[in-house]
Amino acid sequence: MTTITGKTTLMQKRDSLIDSDPLVIPDEFVGYPLRYFNLPLHYRDDLQSVLIPYGLVQDRIEALASSIFLDVHIHIPEQLVCLCVLKGGYRFFSDLVSKIQNENRLQNDRSLPMSLEFIRCKSYVNDSSSEKLEIIGLSDLNSLKHKNLIVVEDMIDTGSTMVALKKELEKFQPKSVKICTLFIKRRKDKKCLLKPDYVGFQIPDHFVVGYALDYNEYFRDLEHICIMEKSGIEKYKIKD
Ligand code: HPA
Ligand code: MG
Repeated sequence: MTTITGKTTLMQKRDSLIDSDPLVIPDEFVGYPLRYFNLPLHYRDDLQSVLIPYGLVQDRIEALASSIFLDVHIHIPEQLVCLCVLKGGYRFFSDLVSKIQNENRLQNDRSLPMSLEFIRCKSYVNDSSSEKLEIIGLSDLNSLKHKNLIVVEDMIDTGSTMVALKKELEKFQPKSVKICTLFIKRRKDKKCLLKPDYVGFQIPDHFVVGYALDYNEYFRDLEHICIMEKSGIEKYKIKD
């Protein structure tokens, strides 16, 4: 990769070594046994294994932050509007923004101004996607016009939520919309409807919780990304 002046800086060299495609967790990997981790007692019996430890999540987010910092700065040297998709995306968003801020502090020759916005999307009941997508907070986003936008999401599963959200956001006429997700699911039955621009991990088709990802509002207060035990899925199921 070269700059406008034709020089390859050390930073670009570093960026060319970072992959914004996902780190792939293979189907054969069923996670680490719980006994190696300090987990909250109230969830121990509801979990099967730790799929991705918190530390690895943090390292991967640091790499994504670096990638975004450089890409955005080269292609769009303007303010970036970071849009957090609540509630599941809040921890990823917070850590990603704080790691981009670190880049801003540490790099002397460039910086990326950001503004932060929040919306809420809800399409999950129990462990499957419901037909109805609820988007809250979009009406406050008239400031998106002609802005470069990055949508920060915890998980892309079928991709249908993100396709619907992107369509809604385009009504505000942003200059560009990029999608950044921490996880993308490798579904056995369906192909994902959308290719995000930045992805942390591609994971097998399990229902996972932790690091703000929930199951019916439980497990957000868990640090590691864990696979649930069948009994846990049953215990916290919403029954009608
Ligand atoms: N966990 C939590 N939320 C989700 C998942 C998941 O595995 N897939 C889609 N939304
Ligand atoms: Mg989500």
